[in-house]
This record gives sequence, C-alpha cells and structure tokens, in this order.
Amino acid sequence: MSFDFKVRDLGLAEAGRHQIRLAEHEMPGLMSLREEFGDSKPLAGARVAGSLHMTVQTAVLIETLTALGAEVRWASCNIYSTQDEAAAAAVVVGPNGTPEDPQGVPVFAWKGETLPEYWECTDAILTWPGGEGPNMILDDGGDATMLVHKGREWETAGQVPPTTEEDSEEFGVFKALVRRTLAENPTKWTEISKGIKGVTEETTTGVHRLYELAKSGELLFPAINVNDSVTKSKFDNKYGCRHSVIDGLNRATDVLIAGKTAVVAGYGDVGKGCADALKGQGARVVVTEVDPICALQAAMEGFQVVPMDKAAAYGDIFVTTTGCYDVITAEHMASMKNKAIVSNIGHFDNEIDMAGLARIEGIEKTEIKPQVHEWTFPDGHSIIVLSEGRLMNLGNATGHPSFVMSNSFSNQTIAQIELFTKTEEYVDEDGKPEVKTLPKHLDEKVARAHLEALGVELTELTKEQAEYLGVDVAGPYKPEHYRY
Ligand code: NAI
Repeated sequence: MSFDFKVRDLGLAEAGRHQIRLAEHEMPGLMSLREEFGDSKPLAGARVAGSLHMTVQTAVLIETLTALGAEVRWASCNIYSTQDEAAAAAVVVGPNGTPEDPQGVPVFAWKGETLPEYWECTDAILTWPGGEGPNMILDDGGDATMLVHKGREWETAGQVPPTTEEDSEEFGVFKALVRRTLAENPTKWTEISKGIKGVTEETTTGVHRLYELAKSGELLFPAINVNDSVTKSKFDNKYGCRHSVIDGLNRATDVLIAGKTAVVAGYGDVGKGCADALKGQGARVVVTEVDPICALQAAMEGFQVVPMDKAAAYGDIFVTTTGCYDVITAEHMASMKNKAIVSNIGHFDNEIDMAGLARIEGIEKTEIKPQVHEWTFPDGHSIIVLSEGRLMNLGNATGHPSFVMSNSFSNQTIAQIELFTKTEEYVDEDGKPEVKTLPKHLDEKVARAHLEALGVELTELTKEQAEYLGVDVAGPYKPEHYRY
C-alpha cells in the first residue's frame, strides 16, 4: 500500500509502537470500545480528518477509529506537540508494515513545524486523494473547522482579504494558505464543506468557536461538544493538567517549585488542576480571575487572588490557563523578577504577548534548549519563556497521561459514532446544524469503563432507592443541571 504522509522519521516507529502498547494498557475506555464495536464497525465509510496533538495517546485513538471501520488522515493541532515516534508508528502500523513499506494511516505532523508547514498539514488532512473529501472532522481547538469555514466564506466572497499589519503572523500565514488552495481549486472549500456530516471538538477554546459560529448562523455542519462531557473537562482539563503542568516545568527547567510563588492565571478546570499541582509541590499559589465565582472558589481553597498587574512583580513561576488573550503583557514581563518562568497551558499562544515581548527595544533571546528561551531585557535581568508561549505541557513534555486521555478519547470515539450514524439528531427542526453535548448516559458509560482498572466498587441502587430518588437503577443518576 502506498499513501502520502509527512513525519520526522519512520525509523522511530518501533520506539513509538512500544509506547503505544503500554498506553493501550492504560486506556481501558478505548480498548473496551474496540471490543464492543470492532465487529459491527459503526464507522465504516467514515473519512475522518483529525487535527489533534499527535501523541502516543492519540495514536491509540487513531487505531481505535480505524478498528471501528474509519479511514483517517491526521495532523497535530500545535506546532510543538507531536511525539515523532508516535507519528511514525501510526504511519507504519499494520500486520506487515515496515518503515520501507508503511501500511498505517496518513499522518502529517512532526515536532517543531513552522507556521506555514502547520497550515499545509491541516490542509493535507482535508484534501483526500481521489477527490473525495473527509465526511467527519475530529478537531482540537477548531483549526481544521476554521479552515473549512473561512475557506468557504472567502471563496463565496470571491477573495481572501488582504493581509494587514493588524494580522498576527499566524493569521497572515493562514490567509496565504487559503489563497493558494483557492488558486488551485476555486470551489475547493464549498466541495469539502458539503461532504462533512459533522465535527467533534475536544477543547474549551474550540467549543467556544463553535458556539460563536452557531450563534451567528454560520455553522456549516453539526458539532458535538466533547469538552463538556463531564468525563472530559472535569478530568482531562483538571487532573490531566494537574499531572502535566509539573511535567512541563520539570522537563523545561528542573527548578525547585517548593517555596516559590506560582501565579496561575484563570481558575477554571485547567487552572484548578494547575493550582492544585503547584500547591502539592509546596509553592505559594496566587490566582488571577475575572469571574467572581471562580475567584471565590480559589479563595476558599486558600489561594490569594489578585490581578496580574500586582502578581507580575512577585511571581517566580507563571502559568496562564484562561483561553483569553494578552493575559500576560510585555509590560508585565518587563516588571517580573530576574529568571521568572513564564508559561501558558491554554490552547492558543496569545495568552502571553510574545509579539510585544519581541518588540521591546534591545531585548535579546537566547535558546537554552528547544522550547526553552531566556529573554534578557536591556537592564540585564531576564525571564525564561517556555514553548514560545504555546501550551507548555505538550511543548515541553508529553501532555496528559494515557489514563486520563482514555476518558477524553472514549468521548471522542463515541461522539464520532453518534454524529456519523445519527447526523439528523444533531440539527434543529429547521434543519440548522446545532452544537450539542453527548447524552449523560454515554458520559456515565465512559466513566464506568474506567472503574475496574482502579479497583472501584460501585454501590448499586435498589429499585426502591431509585424510585425514591426518581432515577433509573441503571442511570443516568443526575439531572442535566447537576454541575459535579
Ligand atoms: P475555563 O473556561 O473552565 O477556565 C478559564 C478561566 O479563565 C475562567 O474561569 C475565566 O473566568 C478565566 N479568565 C478568562 N479570562 C481571564 C483573564 N483575562 N484573566 C484571568 N482569568 C481569566 O476553561 P478551561 O477548560 O480551564 O480551559 C482553559 C484553556 O485551556 C482553554 O484554552 C482550553 O482549550 C485549554 N486546555 C488546555 C489543555 C492542555 O492540555 N494544555 C487541556 C484542556 C484545556
């Protein structure tokens, strides 16, 4: 079999395969879905364009989707998050696959892509050989979905708007890519968007984009908000980050966290996990928040809550978790202590004003090692910035561990099956595409699939107790409005 792909080095496939094998053991949810649906293959006929960090855990997701009958093409959703050995193993896979004769899936991802390469890879997962496009998107952060939507919008308008000085570097690169694709095929994005049944979105930031599109009536196809499955955001965002924020800091700097002042910007699900982890390491944690409810939660946990304007001057370690932009400005960074560590774990790199930092006259940037840079100000003091302001847990470490990702990716797999097989249930009565979360019984199913591995013994309701509570013995156990 021959197919197009682009990864760092297929020679890494064996190392990747060993890691995937161990990850499978830690991903009982995905393995149980393979068991349940491996024969019936509900994803037969699905052509999934996946844009999600190309890690070892993602390789297990990819191979679950293919075991359920899907064809996939895959790119990473961040220039630094690919684990090259996982990408190689996903390409080589198959009973007889070798680096010389790969038999797996087309992956377009490597650690350290340039921005133009990043968007070329995203285009590559949406451009299937033989002319037929994808019929499903599996997205993380919404870049693949945005490419289809913006591509079609600009195609309909008859032009890509000219690049202006206000555009970020990334948006300029994005416009150039759309310009090129439309020059090659002037109806490309209409053709692709027509074939797509729906998208399943992994993260808070991507979900936010989808609801905006639905609100303005521009959403082209239905979407499942995977992020807001309880077994996703209350686990991956919280406990996943509780693990991987420390991993990122350690691998990047190995600085002792105990006794330091750590500033966590944002106290949502990700912020809660990060603050908890830093506290566990013995840091004095300070939180910044805009939402009074989350600020009060932080205070109840014993964290001081102050604005960044105050915290900037006394923090030793900064982690942004807001999904907002300009949370740490160039002025904040200039006022920080010597050798303060500045990092972001939110989806996009604009939480920290890296462009503003680079514009400071006389500032010097020194690479300590890949994805770790010292920025020295004209007065001689410096700060350490991780992953150029991009998400540090995937740029400086390997992201979340398998077990927590098994929860997230079980939701992803179930969402793909739902949307592919019951597309009509995800449009309103006028046929307009909607954004919906998975029903609660499927959320509970994902949780249930992970209990045995942890030795959890559930209590079963009696029939009488269930009647008393007004629920079914088999669940769902909570009303929709319950917040966990
Ligand atoms: P969330 O909405 O639960 O939390 C964000 C919090 O930041 C909110 O409480 C909000 O009030 C606060 N906030 C917003 N603007 C702020 C500002 N200017 N200053 C201070 N606080 C501010 O969102 P969640 O789920 O915690 O996700 C946060 C980000 O992390 C998103 O971009 C999400 O996509 C990303 N994410 C990253 C992961 C990773 O592995 N790196 C994993 C999961 C999510």
